[in-house]
Amino acid sequence: MPRNIKIKKPRRQRRRTIRFPKDFLWGAATSAYQVEGGITKNDWAVAERLPPAGAACDHYHRYEQDFLLAKKLNHNAHRLSLEWSRIEPAEDQWDEEALEHYYHVLEFLKNRGVTTFVTLHHFTNPLWFARAGGWASPKAAERFGSYVSKVAQTLGQFIDFWVTINEPNVYAAVSFMEGRWPPFEKSAFKALRVFHNMLKAHNQAYEIIHAYYPQARVGLAQNITFNEPASKKSFFARLAVKFLDWLDETYTYRHTRNDFIGLNYYFHNRLKFIFDPNHLFMKIVNSSQGRLSERGWEIYPQGLYEVLRDLAKFQKPIYITENGIADAQDKLRGKFIIDHLRAIHRAIQKGVLVRGYLHWSLLDNYEWEDGYKWKFGLVAVDFKTQRRHIRGSAELYARICKTNALPPLNLPLTKGEKKSR
Ligand code: FCB
Repeated sequence: MPRNIKIKKPRRQRRRTIRFPKDFLWGAATSAYQVEGGITKNDWAVAERLPPAGAACDHYHRYEQDFLLAKKLNHNAHRLSLEWSRIEPAEDQWDEEALEHYYHVLEFLKNRGVTTFVTLHHFTNPLWFARAGGWASPKAAERFGSYVSKVAQTLGQFIDFWVTINEPNVYAAVSFMEGRWPPFEKSAFKALRVFHNMLKAHNQAYEIIHAYYPQARVGLAQNITFNEPASKKSFFARLAVKFLDWLDETYTYRHTRNDFIGLNYYFHNRLKFIFDPNHLFMKIVNSSQGRLSERGWEIYPQGLYEVLRDLAKFQKPIYITENGIADAQDKLRGKFIIDHLRAIHRAIQKGVLVRGYLHWSLLDNYEWEDGYKWKFGLVAVDFKTQRRHIRGSAELYARICKTNALPPLNLPLTKGEKKSR
């Protein structure tokens, strides 16, 4: 053979199996009001302008069947939330039946070797709490604290990861600045106060939980989008991005105590500066550049990589507590999962401590002010018959969970991977 013939190396890189670290946690997430059904004593249930959640997925009665499905799909972790209004229907009154129910729910998971992530507050508030001023009240943290103590005393033994509050940034903005969720207020000033009160409540909850369980792992689930200025030329748009990143990350994590970071990542924002203090001087302009989900959210896995690289500075283990897509026909979900997991894996390779991934969601469910319009489930739910149907992407994800690896698919490179070559 002539010496100067070069043998072209096969493009091994792309077909390589991507393995995740040992003991990586895999699972899905839900929240009480979105799946349980039959909740009547919270601020969402009584708000006439919102679609009713009604029976939702009837998960309150069907949790065993649903968890067995998750087990069948090889999930080794599960995130759920407790409904505060069930546990404490009136101030300082504890509903033993509700506590017993959650006892069985969590025991069921633990007996099957599933790691539990338990959220204490996921957007909904007991009516008595809302009527007493809700999160804008200076007493909010104390009131929340007494519920947290009760949960620690009664259910703490089954909780591996405590997620005190889900997305305080989204809750404060949507409920108090955009006025779309109860209590439908429109004041940026109040939103900032609520955000501050929630972080304070988180810190108190952190202390309370650690007093009962010194080894507990306690964190927040923060929604962090990847923000970019709508125009790179605009100084003020760049400032808006800096401010939002500072609020969601630096301010949040420098003012709270956390054993881990819970990250809910969905999409990419482009920000414009507007002269409106009531919207914190910024406006989100919809992306027309990328691929959008049915929900209108831009699919942007590269943003997850960027956010993770940024969060690495806090030097805490990170769990993806939510990530998912509205996709009724299940055409995009499989690739969505793979691309986001590739982004996570790239971050891990750069030294970011990502330790688990919880897909939103296990089941199709009540999607807040949009009712049952969006289908985020790995498992589809027929809300008339309550039948469950495992989607194709759930099977694909099950394979990933089982092998702790991404299959060597011959997929085109993602934008980020192209960039980093
Ligand atoms: C997140 C919420 C979750 C769900 C998803 C789609 O912001 O935490 O309850 O609605 O969005």
